[in-house]
Amino acid sequence: MELVKTVSELQQQIQDSGKGTSVGFVPTMGALHEGHLSLVRQAVAENTLAVVSIFVNPTQFNDPKDLERYPRTLEADLKLLETTGCQLVFAPNAKEVYPEPDTRKFNFGKLEKVMEGAFRPGHFNGVAQVVSRLFDMVKPDKAYFGLKDFQQLAIVKNMVKQLNLPVEIVPCAIVREDSGLAMSSRNELLSAEERKNAAVISKTLFRAKELKTQMSVKELVEWVKDEINNNPFLNVEYVEIVDDEELQAAKSWDEPTTKIACVAVFCGKIRLIDNIVL
Ligand code: PAJ
Repeated sequence: MELVKTVSELQQQIQDSGKGTSVGFVPTMGALHEGHLSLVRQAVAENTLAVVSIFVNPTQFNDPKDLERYPRTLEADLKLLETTGCQLVFAPNAKEVYPEPDTRKFNFGKLEKVMEGAFRPGHFNGVAQVVSRLFDMVKPDKAYFGLKDFQQLAIVKNMVKQLNLPVEIVPCAIVREDSGLAMSSRNELLSAEERKNAAVISKTLFRAKELKTQMSVKELVEWVKDEINNNPFLNVEYVEIVDDEELQAAKSWDEPTTKIACVAVFCGKIRLIDNIVL
């Protein structure tokens, strides 16, 4: 496994792997866990060259405190990546990714007006900036994104369409801790007690899937909110049941679209997201 920090080294390594190489790419912000590694293993299995980027992208953080406390664990990340068969790790600094400030403004229409887009202004614009730049540097055939960040996946697919990029976006299943808590780099910032209580989020979503037949969409949204807020460690920011394509609030179970329940919840100071296909 090679570690490179500049775009020119990255492109040299990719070129050296020869013509006909299929490049699988997993963009990350590091502090890697099993969720990330499952994406990397799939990229390794499906391509001749798997590239992982580790870059905490400043343009997607709407809260400077969140950016500041975001965990950075490069040494440990590299050790974990060694176990996956990944061949190339790209860990650039901010100047390398943004030699000039990126002033592009993307328009994702109604996709960005809901949920994470509504509560984290500018977040998806920053995600689109960095993912498009990374795609331009790596030129992957396939890129792997977790369903944990369901709206991000929809935004990235939309961006690829808008920019007409020749990359296949591969959605990957959510990996959970034994407690059911969706794995996240931010889980490391929770105290032991908070982490235990955070499992109520996924437990509530699993139960919501079972309750679907007994309640209206609106009732189920309220039930999920109350159930999570009843835990003294948890504070719901939003609960939404949306269709899986345009991510608009569902009105009835009769609509012919797949429904996803999406939540953002504060556990102490730490904001966690999760979702489930209903
Ligand atoms: P990060 O949060 O590091 O996540 C990198 C990738 O891992 C994303 O595609 C995310 O959905 C996936 N992932 C995280 N936790 C997961 C889990 N429990 N199960 C399955 N997949 C999981 O998402 C980002 O970084 C950034 O926004 C990025 C796309 C790298 C742009 O900066």
